[in-house]
Amino acid sequence: MLDWEELERQCLSCQKCGLAETRHHVVFGTGPRDAEVMCIGEGPGEHEDLQGLPFVGRGGQLLDEMLELIDLSRDKNVYIANMVKCRPPHNRDPLNTEQDACIGYLRNQVALIRPKIIICLGRISAIRLIKPDFKITKEHGQWFEKSGVHMTALFHPAAILRDPSRRPDTFVDLKGIQAKIREVCTHTYR
Ligand code: URA
Ligand code: SF4
Repeated sequence: MLDWEELERQCLSCQKCGLAETRHHVVFGTGPRDAEVMCIGEGPGEHEDLQGLPFVGRGGQLLDEMLELIDLSRDKNVYIANMVKCRPPHNRDPLNTEQDACIGYLRNQVALIRPKIIICLGRISAIRLIKPDFKITKEHGQWFEKSGVHMTALFHPAAILRDPSRRPDTFVDLKGIQAKIREVCTHTYR
């Protein structure tokens, strides 16, 4: 396991998969490194690739609004990262080979942060981090425990933008996250 400085240094110059060819910026992740809650998306989109920060486009704005409903913010108490750190061309799903090449960085981030709660944003991260047969339409908002970490998944913000009928379910899921935070976190709502 690398410390933050070495991990970020290696990640920012990474050439371990083909996405290195087309990226503008590596999107390492953002938020307090003592966060008890992590959000894990899929991979950078266009705006993220240009700015080097996760979830800064329209979906990112929605994510920030969703998190704010339960008093979470990247400035304060939630760390936000992605499964792959470089943008897949035309926003296609990251290939398994790309995820395999990249996941070590995320695992190292999780090992450094030691979150109490991991929120997967969308099916790609839920499949990889919760279970291979995860069904987002059926299992969003449900809780899974892995190595003492409480894990759940929300619809991806981009999917909510495409289909606003997912909003009420997501609101319920967010309230469930708020309750879980009150149960297992010590300083998120301090
Ligand atoms: N979608 C993601 O999954 N991650 C981002 O950082 C932006 C959009
Ligand atoms: Fe390296 Fe991950 Fe970027 Fe691939 S996506 S080049 S593994 S940082």
